[in-house]
Amino acid sequence: MIFFLETNVYQFFGRFHAIIVHLPIGFIVLAVLFELISLKKKTDLNLAISYAYLVGALSGVFSIILGLMLASDGDYNETTLNIHKWTGITMTIVAFLLFFIKRKQEALFWARKSYPVLVTLVVALLFVAGHNGGSLTHGSDYLFEHAPNPIRTLAGMKPVRERVIDLDSALVYEDVIHPIFESKCNVCHSNDKAKGDLLLTDAESIMNGGESGAVIVGGNAKESELYRRITLSPTHKEFMPTEGRTPLSKEETMLIQWWIDEGASFDKKVVELNISDRMMICLKDVGIGLEKTFIERLDLKAVEDNVIAAIEAQGFKIKPITGNSTLLEVAYSPYRKDSITSEKIEVLLQARTNIVWLDFSSLNLQVDLIAKLGQLENLVELRMSNTNLTDVGMKAIESLTHLEYLNLYGNPISDVSLESLNKLSSLQKLYLWKTNISEEGLKNIKDHLQEVTVISGI
Ligand code: HEC
Repeated sequence: MIFFLETNVYQFFGRFHAIIVHLPIGFIVLAVLFELISLKKKTDLNLAISYAYLVGALSGVFSIILGLMLASDGDYNETTLNIHKWTGITMTIVAFLLFFIKRKQEALFWARKSYPVLVTLVVALLFVAGHNGGSLTHGSDYLFEHAPNPIRTLAGMKPVRERVIDLDSALVYEDVIHPIFESKCNVCHSNDKAKGDLLLTDAESIMNGGESGAVIVGGNAKESELYRRITLSPTHKEFMPTEGRTPLSKEETMLIQWWIDEGASFDKKVVELNISDRMMICLKDVGIGLEKTFIERLDLKAVEDNVIAAIEAQGFKIKPITGNSTLLEVAYSPYRKDSITSEKIEVLLQARTNIVWLDFSSLNLQVDLIAKLGQLENLVELRMSNTNLTDVGMKAIESLTHLEYLNLYGNPISDVSLESLNKLSSLQKLYLWKTNISEEGLKNIKDHLQEVTVISGI
């Protein structure tokens, strides 16, 4: 036992509870399963069933002992812990009863009568004990943490607030500080496990502090226990987070310091605080105030349903780029019998502003048709591999300056198109494999468009 002098023996063994506890669950489920099989197939599995209950009950006793050791640590939510403890103990007793009764079932009237009631009871207890045990280890929100809002509401949980990342409207606590606590601290500092009697879940609890009193002194990070804990040396035993969990990043630590120094407000907007250039960098690091991409800045009304229907009737595939976006992606299958025509494009152009992705790969496109594509002013991705695009055609689409992705694989364009390509200043990916553009031509493009990656096969 000399090894354990410096460690917590109870905790050492107690932690095995979480593993061992699966044995009684497994054996009891097995017993019930055998029961159902023997009813259905009319075979006698009584011996197997009674022993499954016995092993379930014995491993239950073992789990209870380990569980009590684990609970001696004391930082669990008391109600949840009590429900878990007593349902677990009762379940084990019922499993023992079932073991004895199962074999007497035929002979004794009372055993026959009580048996189904006890089976139902053991299953119900298993569920309640299991669910509360899960809440103790993972937090009661664990099960529905990623559920859609309607399901969360049914489970009695607050709907998730969509995190605001726009600098002007983000809130300093809700959008910057709270997500940090949630991801790095609240496995241990939320309702089911208030380690150190401290909850970091909401304004009131945070200001209530923990077992050593207040953890935040508004306006003074250096005097705040919470700040002290996160800036200790990671090897210090009071350093937070403990137990080798992922520590806060430098930026997260600086944001917490800034938030406390600026008064630890729970309702101010980020922009109501003093933001130095350094803080701006930290904010961007956690995703606040990033520059929006061209697509994110587009704020367009949805195209009307009848227009979409008319476009579909022409054989185009058209749909929102994601979920309920008003921006559209369009494709036309090269395997369709009716080939694409200028008339069809005219119909498509009714949704002109909203189309941002277009896939016309492997279609035979005439020059007059390509010329019309120049009107898709917000186009960001264009796939036109193997479409017979010539230098004349390329000239017709040089106005698509928001293009970030352009695939021209297998088209007969030459260095004559360099001037047009170099006008596409937003390009990030350009596919020029199997075109007639020369090596000097490629170099010329890379000189002009430094942001672009050219995929050329050379
Ligand atoms: C793995 C579990 C765990 C994680 C994660 C964790 N803590 Fe703790 N925390 C504890 C335990 C256990 C205590 C009580 C023992 C102690 O005071 O050191 C504690 C105590 C504290 C206290 C002192 C409370 C008081 O009044 O004495 C503060 C402040 C604190 N934690 C802040 C944090 C912050 C901030 C984070 C996230 C960066 C965090 N903790 C993450 C386990 C954890």
